[in-house]
Amino acid sequence: MTEPAESKPKRILVTGGTGLVGRAIEKVVADGEGRPDEEWIFVCSKDADLTNAAETRALYEKHRPTHVIHLAALVGGLFKNIKYNLDFWRRNVHINDNVLHSAYEFGVQKVVSCLSTCIFPDKTTYPIDETMIHNGPPHDSNFGYSYAKRMIDIQNRGYFQQHGWRFTAVIPTNVFGPHDNFNIEDGHVLPGLIHKVYLAKKNGTALTVWGTGKPRRQFIYSLDLARLFVWVLREYDEVEPIILSVGEEDEVSIREAAESVVEAMDFRGELIFDTTKSDGQFKKTASNGKLRRHLPDFQFTPFKRAVKETCDWFNTHYATARK
Ligand SMILES: NC(=O)c1ccc[n+]([C@@H]2O[C@H](COP(=O)([O-])OP(=O)(O)OC[C@H]3O[C@@H](n4cnc5c(N)ncnc54)[C@H](OP(=O)(O)O)[C@@H]3O)[C@@H](O)[C@H]2O)c1
Repeated sequence: MTEPAESKPKRILVTGGTGLVGRAIEKVVADGEGRPDEEWIFVCSKDADLTNAAETRALYEKHRPTHVIHLAALVGGLFKNIKYNLDFWRRNVHINDNVLHSAYEFGVQKVVSCLSTCIFPDKTTYPIDETMIHNGPPHDSNFGYSYAKRMIDIQNRGYFQQHGWRFTAVIPTNVFGPHDNFNIEDGHVLPGLIHKVYLAKKNGTALTVWGTGKPRRQFIYSLDLARLFVWVLREYDEVEPIILSVGEEDEVSIREAAESVVEAMDFRGELIFDTTKSDGQFKKTASNGKLRRHLPDFQFTPFKRAVKETCDWFNTHYATARK
């Protein structure tokens, strides 16, 4: 085990570097957020299967990072979670333990891992804040993913208590943007809607939204989240996680989200709600009060503009987009 040292330059390893959030961080770093004393290394499952401890160690051995942004995870929307709770638990627990413990063994100064607001207790008061993660069981639809993610916070506390190391985590709300998974069955609600509208428009059919359209969500644009990740890596000093979200007033219903996609894609057909499909958790309104205390002036991209940019990206990259 190497002692952490304030060495320069920084070598920042980003796991899950080919995913929605990883690509966004790569873009903001390339577009001006990067610094000359930082080397950014983006890796994916082709570089190492992080469920495998030996491959994870070999990755650290090769790159010798000073900092890690840990994004790699088995990720999916409501319907994939309902089907594969066991896989979500096991895969993510292995990945997280391998990434965090190798970081400890290789003397990494800081790890920023990624939780999610969908791991909070199902029965709770609102708004949810950072102190409430472990206050009760998560929603039954995604208990595997949720408990696996909650254990990152437990492990971070352990590294601090036993060794004094400051590994931390961020808690984003629903993320969307270019390079998302636009698969209708397995992906998240917004990219799924974008893909459905694309097909409905092409085939001249109605748009069927799954569920009642009434549940409410806070969406964060991946490029906004990426800028916040870079800030957390450099400036945020606590082990306790921080929620990265737009304000409570910016929460939208699934119906409103669908209507924004319809507008952005200029879809003129009918909109139907299939109420035989599950709604998932009704809401998970999160407070961004802690973030605002640190960054009162951070400007989020307006939701409709971010949706439009994402739809434009999907239309342009339809052939190669994950779907
Ligand atoms: N999307 C959201 O709405 C949302 C919301 C809150 C939190 N988060 C969290 O944000 C993080 C990033 O999510 P995302 O949406 O960007 O995910 P994503 O687009 O599905 O990307 C997942 C990334 O993880 C990598 N990965 C998966 N299994 C791996 C393994 N066994 N070994 C090595 N790499 C592996 C993938 O590599 P390959 O490309 O090689 O498969 C990919 O780069 C995750 O921790 C997720 O839980 C996401």
